[in-house]
Amino acid sequence: MKQTHNTNRQLTLAARPVGAPTANDFALQETTPPSPKQGEVLLRTVFLSLDPYMRGRMSDAKSYAEPVAIGEPMVGGTVSRVHTSLNPDFQVGDWVLSYSGWQDYALSNGEGLIKLDPAQVPPSYALGVLGMPGFTAYMGLLDIGKPQAGETIVVAAATGAVGSMVAQIGKLKGCRVVAIAGGAEKCAYALDTLGVDACIDHKADDFAEQLAQACPKGIDVYYENVGGKVLDAVLPLLNTGARIPVCGLISQYNATALPDGPDRLGQLMGSILVKRMTVKGFIIFDDYAHRYDEFAKDMSQWLRDGKIHYREQIVEGLDKAPQAFIGLLQGENFGKLVVRVGADELA
Ligand SMILES: NC(=O)c1ccc[n+]([C@@H]2O[C@H](COP(=O)([O-])OP(=O)(O)OC[C@H]3O[C@@H](n4cnc5c(N)ncnc54)[C@H](OP(=O)(O)O)[C@@H]3O)[C@@H](O)[C@H]2O)c1
Repeated sequence: MKQTHNTNRQLTLAARPVGAPTANDFALQETTPPSPKQGEVLLRTVFLSLDPYMRGRMSDAKSYAEPVAIGEPMVGGTVSRVHTSLNPDFQVGDWVLSYSGWQDYALSNGEGLIKLDPAQVPPSYALGVLGMPGFTAYMGLLDIGKPQAGETIVVAAATGAVGSMVAQIGKLKGCRVVAIAGGAEKCAYALDTLGVDACIDHKADDFAEQLAQACPKGIDVYYENVGGKVLDAVLPLLNTGARIPVCGLISQYNATALPDGPDRLGQLMGSILVKRMTVKGFIIFDDYAHRYDEFAKDMSQWLRDGKIHYREQIVEGLDKAPQAFIGLLQGENFGKLVVRVGADELA
């Protein structure tokens, strides 16, 4: 079913997943679009962003943000158009960056909405290169990673929304960038389009050996997106004074228990001590919201100058969101994952 004027399709959280989410953890419900009160706008979703953090919102384990309640629509960043306006600051048809979630329509009082100009860049870019993932790559790499020209940066999930930006910003700063990605096609893209110096497929049997060969001078910045066996392979290669921005640990998001094998916490702490490393976690808008303009200025300029390549994977239809999201946690996306929920113009 396509988006219409009189139905609000909502994808709600039906159950909290144990391990990898399944289609049964989501439910499709249909209601009537809500009516705005004075001061409010009714937003129609055009694009919905799918992001790894949503796995955390499906769980009620203690975290930095509240979980989605069972029966409520899944949360998520959206690019929307103003469908009805009772707020003088917004006109019908305006494009905005909003947080409407996995549904066709949502109300807003205007707070936090950011107007977009589709004449400048495709509006969906506000969910990726010019939005949260791009901002995350920029601040994590530059403020915590502090890369210096000639140093070696390693980044995994390197063709994804965050990793592809880390890799390219690293090259712009004059570093040797070693990418890690899942499969030959993604590695070819990292080498040929993102311009990295080497790309290692983490599914290769000799992944750790290949990574060591690609980092003959060790690793100065490890931009942590995945954890797990990638971190295991990186750890012995880190240089004294290395910096590790801890951005995400996607390989663990579906885990239900600690990994098999010996406890390696002592080894990790020993490395941090002996090599005097900086390991710092961050949550982008909690920690860096005040620096958004700095990022937006640099990234817009790089895009205009053709210095940054951006790849989106656009999935057609809100009903495809659960499967696409399940695939994101298994490396099935290639580029920033976005769902087209409705047409630019609704007939
Ligand atoms: N701290 C923050 O504020 C913040 C903000 C945004 C994102 N993040 C984090 O940044 C990371 C990247 O997010 P993104 O939006 O850019 O996602 P993404 O890279 O576009 O997509 C996820 C990618 O992760 C890789 N992956 C999935 N499962 C994996 C596994 N078991 N082992 C190794 N790699 C796996 C896959 O790439 P391959 O096929 O190449 O392996 C997959 O395509 C995530 O950890 C996310 O939680 C943090």
